[in-house]
Amino acid sequence: MNHFLDIHKTGADDLREILDQANAMKSARAGLPKGTPDSETPLDGRMVALIFEKPSTRTRVSFDMGVRQLGGQSMVLSGSEMQLGHGETIADTARVLSRYVDMIMIRTFDESILLELAEYADVPVINGLTDRTHPCQIMADIMTFEEHRGPIKGKKVVYLGDGNNVCHSLLHAAGQFEFDVTFAGPAQLEPEAEIIGYARGKGSEILIERDADKAVAGADLIVTDTWLSMHDKQSARERRHNMLRPYQVNKALMKTAGEQAVFMHCLPAHREEEVTSEVMDGPQSVVFDEAENRLHAQKAVMRFCLGL
Ligand code: CP
Ligand code: NVA
Repeated sequence: MNHFLDIHKTGADDLREILDQANAMKSARAGLPKGTPDSETPLDGRMVALIFEKPSTRTRVSFDMGVRQLGGQSMVLSGSEMQLGHGETIADTARVLSRYVDMIMIRTFDESILLELAEYADVPVINGLTDRTHPCQIMADIMTFEEHRGPIKGKKVVYLGDGNNVCHSLLHAAGQFEFDVTFAGPAQLEPEAEIIGYARGKGSEILIERDADKAVAGADLIVTDTWLSMHDKQSARERRHNMLRPYQVNKALMKTAGEQAVFMHCLPAHREEEVTSEVMDGPQSVVFDEAENRLHAQKAVMRFCLGL
């Protein structure tokens, strides 16, 4: 069994195999009604617990549908309704759930919760987002980029805005899939130095740029995300928006980037804040393919975790 905790914790060959399998499963079910199982149902007889300590639309629905298409069953659990949210330890929760279910996906706050769950669980644990990283999202992003533009190796990716969990997983992926990342954002919101150091150590060129126009010129992929993540305090909204406004992805910025650039956003998007509707709905945007690919990529992640 394998956990899927972060992109830098799974081998590069395994990551590539996960994406190959995701592509194969996606093609194999083209045109099928969404509720029809795949022709292969390796999760037959398996139960997957999906724990959410934060809101979710895509992660919740794509994991739930993915389990069903693979022939398994899932249960969605809200952290606040579990004893976990009322004083039971993470370790005990892990031990108990391991007696009932075959795999656990968790969306939670501090990374330490995910890591403790994985340490004490006898079944695979998948990271469905923490305050620090969002690896399933970035697997879907790589899959989507390659569908539209071919191999991502050696490409220039520009991330604009807050150096958050999505940005961190993108940097992990840069190291594993061998592409370069320019971060364009304010000094106060740069991604963690440790994660930048990881990607540089793997040979990726990671640049920090304050000027959005300079950053995007010649980019193959432009990525942004919300300016206020679920773990950020509402009281920080105005201060963050003021700092981040120069990094909005709009039509003029996409023009500076060039026609070769595709645009991605993990969603939910805050239209006219970090991105304009003109870009979201424009010809360079692949955001809904990206959302769809969460389903296919995560099905492959689940098969990898269970060795199926
Ligand atoms: N992108 C993403 O993870 O979306 P949800 O918060 O809706 O799951
Ligand atoms: N950075 C965002 C991603 C949401 C999918 C958040 O953590 O809220």
